[in-house]
Amino acid sequence: MTDDRSLETVDPELAGLVRKDVGRQNSSVHLIASENFVSRAVLQATGSVFTNKYAEGFPGRRYYEGCAVVDEMERLAQARALNLLGGVHANVQPHSGAQANMAVYFGLLQPGDKILGMRLDQGGHLTHGSPVNFSGRLYDFVSYGIDEQTERIDMEEVRRLAVEHQPKVVLAGYSAYPRHLDYEAFRSIADEIGAIFMVDAAHFIGLVAGKALPNPVEHADVVTFTTHKALRGARGGAVIANDEEIGKKIEKGLFPNAQGGSLYNQIAGKAVAFHEAAQPAFADYSQRILANAQAMAQRFVEEGVRLVTGGTDNHLMLLDIRSIDEEMTGKAAAKRLDSVGVTLNFNSIPNDPQPPFRTSGVRIGTPASTTQGLGTDQHAEVASLITAALRADESALDPIEARIREIAHAFPPYPEGFPGYVG
Ligand SMILES: Cc1ncc(COP(=O)(O)O)c(C=O)c1O
Repeated sequence: MTDDRSLETVDPELAGLVRKDVGRQNSSVHLIASENFVSRAVLQATGSVFTNKYAEGFPGRRYYEGCAVVDEMERLAQARALNLLGGVHANVQPHSGAQANMAVYFGLLQPGDKILGMRLDQGGHLTHGSPVNFSGRLYDFVSYGIDEQTERIDMEEVRRLAVEHQPKVVLAGYSAYPRHLDYEAFRSIADEIGAIFMVDAAHFIGLVAGKALPNPVEHADVVTFTTHKALRGARGGAVIANDEEIGKKIEKGLFPNAQGGSLYNQIAGKAVAFHEAAQPAFADYSQRILANAQAMAQRFVEEGVRLVTGGTDNHLMLLDIRSIDEEMTGKAAAKRLDSVGVTLNFNSIPNDPQPPFRTSGVRIGTPASTTQGLGTDQHAEVASLITAALRADESALDPIEARIREIAHAFPPYPEGFPGYVG
């Protein structure tokens, strides 16, 4: 018999921490571009008994008995992913976005092979070749950046580097780039040199699912993504391949190369998210994410704040904090904003003179605040409040915080609080 008493009864200390974080989530405006608030259904699936099952391998080919139900569930998650995004082979097992990328590299490449990806300090991700990450330590990354004038990816430069270095994989995708990717151009470059075209869509796959952004699955050989950002699902990663053979190789890259047993409760939460993202309401949500980002970007420009590239085509924007206060770092700005009820992160901007732990920029994204329910008017007002908070004297922050908290309390993601959203 398992102990069926509640978390609150068994472990009030831990329950107290959950309650505390529900309180934190319910009392700020959330603008971290990679975060979101999952539904009760996703929370229930991730809190389900699927956490108990060991199931190394893939459906129908397991190293443990008793896998019939998880096989059915994993196949459902795979089918839903393919139905939502296209492609021919889905792998829903990666514990995270980093491990989805690891699976692709391990599955398709040998250590020392070349990959062409975007520079971390100009918008790429750690797993795109950073020297402090397994990717940069095991593979020979060549990096493209952005054009100094336009601050956009220069596809001619990507082509020049590809032809010069002949990478086996051409990788597109970003953590902090506010503009569209030119999939056709990447595809033709990859074809020109016989490389695999991979897209890391971790940040924006939710907007693809909601049909608000073009679909990289229509162009790439392989698309990796996270399921917990704009897609609003359980925390984890996934891979879609457009070729069965490539998909099988990536499976091996994940298991036994990178992971043991998968997190079946998380996979259940991903399956629910794929189902939710296929509903018409999710397309509406995705459009609102973009409209809200536009409303914020426009207001920042009106307030005299410099945005990298001057605006955004997607769910995120990068603010050059020096345009508000020449002396202030991104880190100081993020800390001040956190203290008045706006949660976001400091972020390097292109050619940033500050080191990565200080930076001159902050990154803002609208997926979480859109789930909270803020509309375009509130997003524009929050942009003005952010600017005011960063321009104000420390002693004049109280009325700004009061207004931000008023907005946050009007749009709590979990209005029932704790324990309404546990289990
Ligand atoms: C482009 C990109 N790839 C991969 C990842 C890694 O995802 P995770 O943090 O789940 O490992 C991220 C996360 O921020 C990302 O932005």
